[in-house]
Amino acid sequence: MRTPFIAGNWKMNRSIGESIQLAKLLKVKLADVSQVDIAVCPQFLALPEVAKVLAGSNIHVGAQNCHGNPSGAFTGEVAAEMVADAGATHVILGHSERRQIFGETNQGVRARLAGALRAGLHPIVCVGETLAEREAGATIDIVSDQVKGALEGFDAQALRHLTLAYEPVWAIGTGKTASPEQAQEVHASIRSLIASLYGQDFAHALRIQYGGSVKPGNVAELMACTDIDGALVGGAALDAESFSNIVHF
Ligand code: 13P
Repeated sequence: MRTPFIAGNWKMNRSIGESIQLAKLLKVKLADVSQVDIAVCPQFLALPEVAKVLAGSNIHVGAQNCHGNPSGAFTGEVAAEMVADAGATHVILGHSERRQIFGETNQGVRARLAGALRAGLHPIVCVGETLAEREAGATIDIVSDQVKGALEGFDAQALRHLTLAYEPVWAIGTGKTASPEQAQEVHASIRSLIASLYGQDFAHALRIQYGGSVKPGNVAELMACTDIDGALVGGAALDAESFSNIVHF
């Protein structure tokens, strides 16, 4: 059985002080949880403070991105090693906002993934189609290309701490959730692709999160799907009560 994994992506929200407050509330509200893996991903500057608050708790801390090189002339970037040094154990990679707004490509995601693995971070690699791609019937092709493009060249051993997140772009921040059937169909196709690349055992153990307008009211029906193993939560992760309710699905 796969342990559910629910992560909050705080995106570019909350000051350092507000992030500390949110982390303190979550630490209390989620202290009873032992059957679900939990992570929160604050903005970079708040990350070391949040990591201090959550040290020794059952909540992991992740970054929202990292660079593939360990150091160098990459103005504005943060290396995977620096993310780990700041107290993170996880990192989100290839989020659709990175792909759409900042031009990250599958190849770029792969380079960042190489850094994350080198630094010992647990990566959460995001994939997902746009509305136009879904309407054109290209969902499975697009998502498969993103999975293959990001993971190419890494073996199962290197990817043992990998989590994938299926986040349909049209469901992010829109209030429109994929139906459990829509999400399950894509999750199942991702798992069978992973099985063809890395074998059944690896595919069976891999956790695939769903992301896109996950809320306390819809998390249970999503989590009930065979191939949905968790959630990557944006807006609803910014409120301690609602994130706690999601984790307690
Ligand atoms: P929302 O939950 O706000 O739709 O965001 C989802 C997301 O992008 C998580 O990474």
